Amino acid sequence: MTTENSNCNVSGVSRRNFLRTLGAASAAAAALPAAAAFAQQAAPQAAVGQARRRDFGSDMGETRVMNPNTVIISSNENPLGPASSSLEAISKTASLGGRYHQEISAQTVAAFNEIYGLKRGYSALFPGSGGPLDLALMSNIGPDKPLVMADPSYEQGTRAAQAMKAPLFAVKLTPTYAHDVKAMLAAHPSPGAYYIVNPNNPTGTMTPKADIMWLLKNKPKGSVVIVDEAYFHFSTDDSMLDQVAADQDLIVMRTFSKIYGMAGLRAGFAAGRPDLLMKFATVAQPARSLASISITSAAGAKAALQDKDLIATRRKINADNRSETLEFLSKKGYTVLPGSQANFFMVDVKRPGHDFQQQMMKEEVAIGRTWAAMPTYVRVTVGTKDEMAKFQTAFVKCMDTAPTPGPVNGASLYLPTHYTPSELFRGEFHG
Ligand SMILES: Cc1ncc(COP(=O)(O)O)c(C=O)c1O
Repeated sequence: MTTENSNCNVSGVSRRNFLRTLGAASAAAAALPAAAAFAQQAAPQAAVGQARRRDFGSDMGETRVMNPNTVIISSNENPLGPASSSLEAISKTASLGGRYHQEISAQTVAAFNEIYGLKRGYSALFPGSGGPLDLALMSNIGPDKPLVMADPSYEQGTRAAQAMKAPLFAVKLTPTYAHDVKAMLAAHPSPGAYYIVNPNNPTGTMTPKADIMWLLKNKPKGSVVIVDEAYFHFSTDDSMLDQVAADQDLIVMRTFSKIYGMAGLRAGFAAGRPDLLMKFATVAQPARSLASISITSAAGAKAALQDKDLIATRRKINADNRSETLEFLSKKGYTVLPGSQANFFMVDVKRPGHDFQQQMMKEEVAIGRTWAAMPTYVRVTVGTKDEMAKFQTAFVKCMDTAPTPGPVNGASLYLPTHYTPSELFRGEFHG
């Protein structure tokens, strides 16, 4: 299915909101003394997270104050939080916070470039990857430069197309839930950008690197391929970053919000040829200063990049908890979308996903949203072993119960006073 602006059931991000995104510099990391930081690392992260006010936005169309016992597996966060290496770097750096210390960000960029074989100028550090993803998309699309993306996929592409009044071609995934690069190429003769999320959000499935290489080779001149590798580290596939080094028409997005557990600390990278990164300034001027990251987040990100065991250890924890849960669901006869290599998966709840979310909230389990292309599937983030045990019990109970739509759990309408591009505040954009 190829549709032009057909799936745009979200209201566009306004220019004012977009600029606020960029202006909201990285959330200042809490200046934890080292001992407290390590204590927090040792304590179950969920308990810390759940005690705070949480916004359960998006498809529920409203946000809520959650019961502190609620298991939060809705926004693809990492229940482990930042690694101890990051926490140590953050606490050491916090006392330097009275000065700008741009060299800490520069060191983080240098560490990233060294690890991925990129030359100077081929990457830029931002507070999270959502802001630079907007810049990458918006600097390449417009009324006569369509966006081609997958359906279902991460809605930031849809929102960027709406904001820029760019025609949107949303192309169905293949039967194995990969991006259908041939159909994407056929969608329009001269799009501004192709947006590929790998692993894809919400399906967690991979698009083979060979397919993305094929698209790069065959795409029309003047268009750019944007590969969002937010969840890349949970998989064992090959990254596209080597193709950035090879000067392709390619921008690769990376975030510290997922495997690195730093969603609230805000750090992310855009990697691309210098001319593609410089083009960001055509959307937000001057992108560089608006997008400055706090020194604590930069130091935490650098430590995470240099933490040799972090990725393999966390990938295994996630894969173990994911397969244990998927095995449970399959044995019980539920239909799980196959092939997730990410920290989330989709499961068919055989009723409107929105209703099921609300039923699960009654059981103190906050699960993720649903997508128009798969309205009876909900997305579930992989939490800790204990969280997934609670999820399993609640899931079976809710599947055995008739849907009960309506407000639950002391719901209250809360409109955030600022915009972050993370999934936490989706409610601001979705109808
Ligand atoms: C595919 C994808 N890209 C980008 C982002 C933005 O993440 P952040 O701004 O926290 O880096 C998200 C958030 O969940 C995501 O799922």
